[in-house]
Amino acid sequence: METDSQFPSTPRQRAFQILEHGRRRQPASRALDWVLVLLVLANVAATVAETVPGIMARHAASLQIFDRICVLVFAIEYIARIWVAPEHPLLQRRSPAGARVRFAGTPLMVIDALALLPLLLELLFPQHSLVRLTRLVRFLKLARYSPALATIGRLIASERRALLACVVIFIGVLLTAAAAMHAVEGTIQPDRLGDMPKAIWWAAAMLAKIGGGEVIPATVLGSIISALTVMLGIGCFALPVAIIGRGFYEEIRRRDFVVTFAMVARVPLFSRMDAAAIADLVSILKARTAPAGTTIIRRGDRGDAMYLIASGAVEVESAAGKVRLEEGDFFGEMALLSREPRSATVTAARATDLLVLDADDFTRLLDRHPDIAETLRWTAKERSAGA
Ligand code: CMP
Repeated sequence: METDSQFPSTPRQRAFQILEHGRRRQPASRALDWVLVLLVLANVAATVAETVPGIMARHAASLQIFDRICVLVFAIEYIARIWVAPEHPLLQRRSPAGARVRFAGTPLMVIDALALLPLLLELLFPQHSLVRLTRLVRFLKLARYSPALATIGRLIASERRALLACVVIFIGVLLTAAAAMHAVEGTIQPDRLGDMPKAIWWAAAMLAKIGGGEVIPATVLGSIISALTVMLGIGCFALPVAIIGRGFYEEIRRRDFVVTFAMVARVPLFSRMDAAAIADLVSILKARTAPAGTTIIRRGDRGDAMYLIASGAVEVESAAGKVRLEEGDFFGEMALLSREPRSATVTAARATDLLVLDADDFTRLLDRHPDIAETLRWTAKERSAGA
């Protein structure tokens, strides 16, 4: 599998290298990336220019030809990406048709398909000038070239529960503030706060700190409610910013190294997993670098994760003595299995790259893979017998 993509021999493999392996920084991949990025930017600029009557009067024909050329290039790019999909390492086990259908559903390919949609809409509704503005969706094609955007997407997905809680809190604060103000000043300022929809609009404006519209509190209680609403608004917005900010910090910290497919596939514990399960693990495992001498686990602490050694070595110090674990070994499974405190202290013997599996993901992994559960239980039993 690897050799195919590293030494392409068929036209489809070569096309795959150029289209999907831009990260390998082949000159052809790089050139294609640049051409596509420039074309997307030029297309978006042309769409904006088309809304200026003066420019439209003089260049309507050339702008339309340019747009058709862009659509043609984007369509060829889309078809080519679908064509090479069976070469993707994670899709090689599927039939070519199955691989293509699966690939077409990936977020970046959905964006590429959306980028072609405006032409269809323009053909169906040629008179509608607003339809032309749907071309601006092509801007999203740049997501392919911005790994940081993928990071934001991943962060939002992984923090969705916390972010949803923020939305619930925000709605709660909004309704409470609106109801309080409506009750206190609804009769004094009926045109601004006389009904709940008007009061909700006031509360939303206060929470977002764009001011309270033209509402000036007429009572002391109204002023207190307004002041409280502004303060709560700061909290409501600070919360999601803190959640995403912390996520970013952790992502940057764990960028000490990036968890790759090959790195996870090399771990003996996962040797019998199929490509899809390994791909799942790649997104779940977190990377952590431990400089020599770092204490990774302290005896007696509560267990919250299991660790796999991607490179380096650690020293395990238990009641029975010292044991050295090397690349490919794992540790920290015992506390998670027994729900008892950590049985030993584990220290990095030299600079060590670790793959970290959180307790929740550990439980899910055991449920889905009984063979791995069996190996872990057996190892834990052996280790506790030796301790
Ligand atoms: P846990 O008890 O969660 O935390 C300390 C870890 O050290 C433990 O899980 C095992 O993974 C590891 N460990 C404990 N005793 C031994 C041993 N005798 N040999 C190898 N590893 C051990």
